[in-house]
Amino acid sequence: LEQAKRPSVIWLSFQECTGCTESLTRSHAHPLEDLILHLISLDYHHKLQAASGEAAEEARLAAMEDNAGNYLAIVDGAVPGPSANPGFSTVAGHSNDQRLLETVADAAGVIAVGTCAAFGGLPQASPNPTGACAVMDLVTDKPVVNLPGCPPIPAVITGALVHYLAYGAFPELDDEGRPIAFYGDSIHDHCNRREHFDRRRFANSFDDEGAKAGWCLCKLGCRGPTTHNACATLQWNDGTSWPVGSGHPCLGCSEPGFWDRDRFYVSR
Ligand code: SF4
Ligand code: SF4
Ligand code: F3S
Repeated sequence: LEQAKRPSVIWLSFQECTGCTESLTRSHAHPLEDLILHLISLDYHHKLQAASGEAAEEARLAAMEDNAGNYLAIVDGAVPGPSANPGFSTVAGHSNDQRLLETVADAAGVIAVGTCAAFGGLPQASPNPTGACAVMDLVTDKPVVNLPGCPPIPAVITGALVHYLAYGAFPELDDEGRPIAFYGDSIHDHCNRREHFDRRRFANSFDDEGAKAGWCLCKLGCRGPTTHNACATLQWNDGTSWPVGSGHPCLGCSEPGFWDRDRFYVSR
């Protein structure tokens, strides 16, 4: 098995902030080194590959040709749509939408990592000067899995990928294209402050006695009741903590339009 050819993965980065890749590098359930040394062949990734410039582009084209129909494309970042100025975001002299459509043409499927790729995220926030789109707005003839979060939980990225490697198919998805295994429940369903919510014990400011006692952050703008993600159960940094666990309300980062939905930190 060790001699078996590892599945090819091409990772494209567009209008993004590097946070999604930073998150992946913190994965403890399937650490990154285990993933790229034993499970996949990461043939193209701006930040993680040794090659650069023309050599990097040649590696991407070779991976597409050698693995036509079988490689996975992973995308982080939003993409200026075809009607946008192509110069808003380019890689190797090509617009992001051209680069995306060319690369996914022979892919078996596409994983949109992070809220920017899944739903447009920050680049798409009003007034969206670059015409930023989600991957699924542009890729309509391939299976697309959305792994939103700003950034997504590292174990969610590796978990979805390993599911595909194990079963040859993506996991079951919800209406937003997210794996139900990770996004089926709300933050509120498993929040460690939930007992305080049920007993109507709320923090009213970030430094009052309720906040110090770990009470519910609903009145500080927590969107946990309407946000679907696994932060409360998987947590971050090998289960160290998560936003609400460390005293910050959930901002709803794994839902569509989270930047424009409501003002942050407003009582609801
Ligand atoms: Fe950065 Fe968040 Fe977009 Fe990922 S989803 S690229 S962390 S802004
Ligand atoms: Fe729900 Fe947020 Fe309160 Fe937790 S802090 S119980 S997620 S409203
Ligand atoms: Fe995002 Fe809320 Fe989790 S802001 S990181 S979904 S706790």
